[in-house]
Amino acid sequence: VRGSVVRCDGLIGQAEGSWTDSSEAERFRVFRASYAEIATSLERPAEPIFAKDAGAIMVFADIRAGDRVVEVGVGAGAMTIALLRAIGPNGTLTSYERRADFAAVARHNVQRFQGETPNWTLEVRDAGEGLNQTEVDRIVVDVPVPSEVLGPAAISLRPGGTLAVYLPTILQVAELHLALSRAQAYACVETREILDRSWHVDERSVRPDHRMVAHTGFLTFARRTAEPADAALG
Ligand SMILES: C[S@@+](CC[C@H](N)C(=O)[O-])C[C@H]1O[C@@H](n2cnc3c(N)ncnc32)[C@H](O)[C@@H]1O
Repeated sequence: VRGSVVRCDGLIGQAEGSWTDSSEAERFRVFRASYAEIATSLERPAEPIFAKDAGAIMVFADIRAGDRVVEVGVGAGAMTIALLRAIGPNGTLTSYERRADFAAVARHNVQRFQGETPNWTLEVRDAGEGLNQTEVDRIVVDVPVPSEVLGPAAISLRPGGTLAVYLPTILQVAELHLALSRAQAYACVETREILDRSWHVDERSVRPDHRMVAHTGFLTFARRTAEPADAALG
């Protein structure tokens, strides 16, 4: 029954997957929310990176526990939460967001779903002015004009480090490739798109769901070369 109330006090100490009754005697099994569920329910001042793209970014950018990571463009902090989960307590994440109001929402979301995060720093300023971190393993960028941060990212990334850029339209991707191809700081540039189709499985009715998310964004990856930063941007 929609609008019925589940008493959260009654859930404390229960094993995940236990049943609970609502005020209207409707029964629910209760599980801790996964990243995929969190990302779709966050307060959202800007479009977040959802699970299908966040997962691919983790794998293709090879983001690992203990990595030193920089994020540019925080918005709601959805990707921030995914990155904090991936790097674990021994990794560090510095996130740049130029809008103070968005940064406040991200802080709230991260605190709510990740709790205390002493290994996370949020810098409220334009990343185009420069990144404070050096010898960074991975940089994840989700801003409309990523070419503005290619220079700072080249200074910040260690040789062999990975740049991952999320962009919603293909003209932005074309511009990014042009900028990357002019810069000796980057090599191994590739773009991919992730299509994710859920299935309806009910006894003998087994088929793809009628609806799917047709488009979110394109993922572009590049590796930092060994060129010194001052000579590496074309
Ligand atoms: C699409 S949102 C990022 C969403 C985020 N990846 C998530 O999963 O919730 C893009 C954000 O980048 C910020 N932004 C744009 N250009 C920036 C820049 N040069 N430096 C720092 N932040 C920037 C915008 O204010 C906006 O909040």
